[in-house]
Amino acid sequence: MKLEINKATTFLAAGKVESYTADVMAAQKALEDGTCAGNDFLGWLHLPLSITAEFIAEINETANILKANCDTVVVAGIGGSYLGAKAVIAALDDNFTWLKPSNAPRILFAGNNISEDYLTELIDYLKSVKFGVINISKSGTTTETAITFRLLKKLCEEQMGKETAKKVIVAITDAKKGAARSCADKEGYKTFVIPDNVGGRFSVLTPVGLLPIACAGYDIAQLVKGAQDMERQCDINVPFDENPCAVYAATRNALYASGKKIEILVNYQPKLHYVSEWWKQLYGESEGKDKKGIFPASVDFSTDLHSMGQWIQDGERTIFETVISIDKPNSSLVVPADEENLDGLNFLAGKHIDEVNHKAELGTQLAHIDGGVPNIRISIPKLDEYNLGQLIYFFEKGCGVSGLLLKVNPFNQPGVEAYKKNMFALLNKPGYEAESKAIQERL
Ligand code: PA5
Repeated sequence: MKLEINKATTFLAAGKVESYTADVMAAQKALEDGTCAGNDFLGWLHLPLSITAEFIAEINETANILKANCDTVVVAGIGGSYLGAKAVIAALDDNFTWLKPSNAPRILFAGNNISEDYLTELIDYLKSVKFGVINISKSGTTTETAITFRLLKKLCEEQMGKETAKKVIVAITDAKKGAARSCADKEGYKTFVIPDNVGGRFSVLTPVGLLPIACAGYDIAQLVKGAQDMERQCDINVPFDENPCAVYAATRNALYASGKKIEILVNYQPKLHYVSEWWKQLYGESEGKDKKGIFPASVDFSTDLHSMGQWIQDGERTIFETVISIDKPNSSLVVPADEENLDGLNFLAGKHIDEVNHKAELGTQLAHIDGGVPNIRISIPKLDEYNLGQLIYFFEKGCGVSGLLLKVNPFNQPGVEAYKKNMFALLNKPGYEAESKAIQERL
C-alpha cells in the first residue's frame, strides 16, 4: 500500500502536516499505554499479530461445516457486526456472482434494516434453498438483528428440524451476556466470542468478519497477513513520515483545521463500494461527537462523476478527497478495433479498459485540484485478501490516532442510543414506561 499526500499538502501551509508529529506520537503512545479515552476498547490495536494459525483453522473448520451443508448463508448483523464482512466479500466477489454457479455458498446479509418487504422477500427466497445462519451481535440485544434472527431460526428449524438446524446456526457474540449468548447456549449452537475490548466497528478481524469471509470461500489467512504487515508498518517506532497511519491522521486533521469539513472516500472500482460503507461507519462513529468531526462521505467513480461530479468540482469548498486506487485489475480486456468506427472510438482500440479508467482517475484528480479539492491518494497493487487486510488495519489505526488528535473518545458511540430510546418508548418496550409517557406528550 502506498499513501501520497503531495496533492493535499499544496492546500496547507508548508510544514503543517509535519507539525503534528509530536501530537501523533502522543496519540500513539496513549494507545500503546492504554491511557487514552476509551482505553477499554483497544483490543483491535495489536489484534492482527495476536491471531494464530490455530484460530484461523478453527474458523475455517466451522466455515467448512456451513459450506458443506448450505448453499446460502445468511449473516444477521448490523453496523460493525456486518459492514466489515460485507466490505471484504463485496470487494472480492465476482461482480456477477449472482448469475454464476459457485462452489462456495451464497452469502446474504440481513438484520441490518427493519424492512418488512426485505425480510418477506428474503424468507421467500430461503424457502427454496438450504441455508445456514451466522447470528452476529456483540450486545446480543440489537433489535434489527434480533427480529431477523427470530424469523431465520424459525424457518431453519421448520425446514431442517431443530437438531439439524443446530449444525448450521452459529452465534458470534459476547462471552457471557446478552440474548444471543443465552439462546446459543440453550440451543447448543457453535459460538465464537467477540472480545470485550474490541468495539463493533473495529471487529472485522475477529470472527465477526473472518467467519463470513471464510464461508464465502476467501483466504482469511492472507487477509490477516496483510493486516499483520500493516500493523508492523504503523508501529509506534516507525518514524512519522514512513508511518502511513500517522501521516494520514495528521493530514486529515490539518485539512479539517483549515476548513475542510468533509472527507470523500473515492474509488474507481464498483467492488469497493462497501469498503467505503465500512470506512464511513469507522470514521463517522469514531469521530462525530462533541459537536466535532470530519463528515465521512463516499462516491463510486466514474459512475458518480455523472451525478456528484458537478458538486465536487464546483460546490462549496469544504471538501477533500481520499482516493483508493488499484494499480492493476484482476482481469484483462481491451477495447476492440472496429472497421467502421461509427462510434469514433478507434483512438482507444487495443487499450486496456483499466488504462482508460486510470486516465479518468488522473484527469479527475487534476480537475478537482484545479477546483480547490485537496487529494490524498492510497494505492494498492491489486484487489485481493492481502491488500484488503492492509487497508483495514491502516484505516483502523489511522482512525484511532486521528480521533485522539481531534480530542474525542474514538471508541464510544453514545449518540447511537438516542434513536433506540425513542423507538423502544414508541414500541412500549418493558422498562421504557417513563420514556413512553414522555414521548406521547411530544406527539
Ligand atoms: O460499531 C458499533 O459498535 C455498532 O455499529 C455496533 O456494531 C452495532 O450497533 C451492532 O451492535 P451489536 O453487535 O451489539 O448488535
